[in-house]
Amino acid sequence: MIEEHQDKVIVQLDSDPTTSVTILKYGATVISWKLKGEEQLWVSTAAKLDGSKPVRGGIPLVFPNFGKTKDESKATYDLPQHGFARNSEWEFLGQTTSNPITVQFALSPEIANKEVYDLWKGKPDFTLIYNITLADEKLTTTIEVENPGDKPFEFNWLFHTYFRVDDITDIVVNNLTDEECYDQLLATTYREKAPMVNFIEEFDRIYKKIPEEKVLQIIKLGHVQQNIKRSGLPDAVVWNPWINKSKGMGDFEPKSGYLNMLCIEAGLVGEFKTLSPGEKWTGSQDFYPKGEILVQSNIY
Ligand code: BG6
Repeated sequence: MIEEHQDKVIVQLDSDPTTSVTILKYGATVISWKLKGEEQLWVSTAAKLDGSKPVRGGIPLVFPNFGKTKDESKATYDLPQHGFARNSEWEFLGQTTSNPITVQFALSPEIANKEVYDLWKGKPDFTLIYNITLADEKLTTTIEVENPGDKPFEFNWLFHTYFRVDDITDIVVNNLTDEECYDQLLATTYREKAPMVNFIEEFDRIYKKIPEEKVLQIIKLGHVQQNIKRSGLPDAVVWNPWINKSKGMGDFEPKSGYLNMLCIEAGLVGEFKTLSPGEKWTGSQDFYPKGEILVQSNIY
């Protein structure tokens, strides 16, 4: 069942309305994913849901640049951190499949946040089509980026997902071992050696070119809580702001919230992707809970 409100769309399984996904039209931000009544995502209690600021939580969408572009020669150099997809009002295109149930949103220059889009040098023409599919035990988000214009453009894409966890200190994430990692806090690149990463302080790392068959797993006290399976999305940002950084974010509440969230952000951010006129690119991720622990990396 689908309910369209002025500001959001609520999708519920016909077979079980306690399994649902809610998408804010602003940013096409998924702000809730419930599995049998249990919320899977974290949203700050101070998050702005009125379109005045990107949502602090859920699944904000990052396009056409991840972070701030440092290279002056890039067309996204003047854009703010994480671009304009997360602070533009998307168009709701409706339901496209019924079993499982898919809803679709779109963004193009005509409706993008003008103030921010205008900072993209050359003002490229683009079409984003975003599909959100809700199944019994799975949420799939798929983005298509298309170039309907007459010149190429470069972009990053990222699903900036905030997962809800009971206690971050009980959590490890696996299958990142051996992957190239840029540590944003140390400003250093190295190969991850930890058999599983754990969280005891601020964490901000970009793992690059992770083989597609590797499923990232959020493991709580030896049990898989969530699986993150990627298609066309080679990179993953893993982020927890911890105490000091979250203190500095006005929209991060409660201040103890860092204990209850973990961002695992699948994307294409290690380098820019160039899209030629007429070309289309697709990236997709599946989230599904539970199952076996998969050991897909060498353990040192
Ligand atoms: C993460 C980055 O993806 O997003 C972090 O790796 C950043 O460095 C975080 O702090 C949140 O960004 P923002 O713009 O939503 O505060």
